[in-house]
Amino acid sequence: CGIIGILGNHEVSPQLVEALKRLEYRGYDSAGIASIDARGELDRRRAVGKLVNLSDRLVHEPLQGLIGIGHTRWATHGAATEVNAHPHLHGPVAVVHNGIIENFRELRAEVIAGGRAPESDTDTEVVALLTAQYMAAGMTPVEAARATIRRLHGAFALAFLFKDEPDLMIAARKGSPLAIGHGTGEMFLGSDAVALAPFTDRITYLEDGDLAVLTRAGVEIEDSEGRRANRDMAVIDVGSTAIDKAGHRHFMAKEIAEQPVVLGDALNHYLHGDRIVLPEGLDFSSVERLTLVGCGTAYYAAHVAKYWFESLAGLACDIDIASEFRYREPPMSPRSWALFVSQSGETADTLAALHYVRDKVEKVIGVVNVGTSAIARESDIALPTLAGIEVGVASSKAFTCQLAVLAVLAVKAAHDRGRISDAELAALVGELRAIPGLLNQVLGLSEDCRGLAAWLAEAQDVLYLGRGPLYPVALEGALKLKELSYIHAEGYASGELKHGPIALIDRNVPVVVLAPRDALFDKTVSNMHEVMARHGQVLLISDSEGIELAGEGTHATLTMPAAGGIFAPILYAVPMQYLAYYTAVAKGTDVDQPRNLAKSVTVE
Ligand code: G6P
Repeated sequence: CGIIGILGNHEVSPQLVEALKRLEYRGYDSAGIASIDARGELDRRRAVGKLVNLSDRLVHEPLQGLIGIGHTRWATHGAATEVNAHPHLHGPVAVVHNGIIENFRELRAEVIAGGRAPESDTDTEVVALLTAQYMAAGMTPVEAARATIRRLHGAFALAFLFKDEPDLMIAARKGSPLAIGHGTGEMFLGSDAVALAPFTDRITYLEDGDLAVLTRAGVEIEDSEGRRANRDMAVIDVGSTAIDKAGHRHFMAKEIAEQPVVLGDALNHYLHGDRIVLPEGLDFSSVERLTLVGCGTAYYAAHVAKYWFESLAGLACDIDIASEFRYREPPMSPRSWALFVSQSGETADTLAALHYVRDKVEKVIGVVNVGTSAIARESDIALPTLAGIEVGVASSKAFTCQLAVLAVLAVKAAHDRGRISDAELAALVGELRAIPGLLNQVLGLSEDCRGLAAWLAEAQDVLYLGRGPLYPVALEGALKLKELSYIHAEGYASGELKHGPIALIDRNVPVVVLAPRDALFDKTVSNMHEVMARHGQVLLISDSEGIELAGEGTHATLTMPAAGGIFAPILYAVPMQYLAYYTAVAKGTDVDQPRNLAKSVTVE
């Protein structure tokens, strides 16, 4: 969920909506704003679904006031209905929240016993109810908010407004990031600095346990012990690049097409001549173990990278999804490094996993697209993936740029650890430099993929198979299809198919086989024949020679360039994107904002 707060000198509702647009990546199940009008009255407008529904409502039912809070929701407790939408309002208190209040049932019972009736199914509402209860007992707004926050278990970022207090906003964080923006005679609050970019570039990040009291004159912060706290203000360069579709029908189509350029930018950032130039402190020579963690697509990038780090650099790698890693208490060697992969840098599970390793490993590295994000700020070394703003909820260019940066790191590690000579380093750098040009060629498969969409759109289930570093690309292909077209899909290691999932194969199951002409080609093709022997409909993706050798009897083929070598996963990601994209277009689903998803999930 995304939070915004503004203590301004202009009508606040258009500004709140503008800021919420920049937070919609955190969820679009509902949106809402609250403000205090000239009479001191607290009021709100909420709407189910995307932000546009709230803007439409505001046209007919405007909301007046110079101070306000806003929220965009990804539903956790309670369906995506208007009653469950934030802000939650009780008595003199309005609240917006990102996170989960784990003890809300118990607190709810308490406020009900006190005679107050919740309206919604959310965990958040109890915060408004409890604060209202404390105020009714005579506490000031600050005392009531402080008392409430001390009762809450779980992770949260909260913003409060109070009736008859048009120059007061209270914010608090535990677990979920919050940024304070400093204006001139105005103050701002946001889940991230990007949301505040239209208003200010002067940012103070709250620390865990902080409670902030904002007025137009400034902010006073107290820590979890109630002591006055000084938090630095920094001038942040968020950049205000125009976000448009550049003539494409969807953001995702544009973002797929941008890959040769942005990936070239990312590589140019790290490659100088035939050398690799990374920030100080990234010498892999004595690293004992590398742990890579991420969620969703970012995790699959980590999974591909594991093959590279192990085979090129001889560096043992563990990979895990952040939501498992954070709770399984993995022992970490003090001579190991941990690397977190995240497009947004705000994913709650990934951030929590980072906090887990903080004091247990030698170095924490972030491979992150949003440079001002929490994960970028909290890593010892943050490596930007430089994909530019990615709007499509399903990741495309952010994934391939993650792969590019991870490939650079793996090659650097191989050289640092004496596994490759200078000449071999130069050769691998040359292979990386060729990738943007090859990606340009692969974009030429767009029409072929469009031609296959009607076939895939008919399917109930689709399987994706790959071996070695193409196995995680198969997983990513299946994820893309699920996310965009809502068709059930599974990625499998080709060799694992026979151990169970082959039972699914019949004439109606398309099977996408990723088979570059690498050392494992023949083995993958054998697995493909096991599918064809059971009447599975195969789409073979390989280079022209591979297709000549093995294409007979398949349903269809896609011809890739005979290049890429160990970096072929970057190229093979593109047909995965196009197949999912065109299938979604054929089915008429919402490509850029698929149902139930958020671009970054900021709750656990
Ligand atoms: C969400 C998105 C995925 C994304 C994942 C991790 O689930 O829908 O597309 O891969 O979060 O996001 P991150 O910003 O950490 O890469």
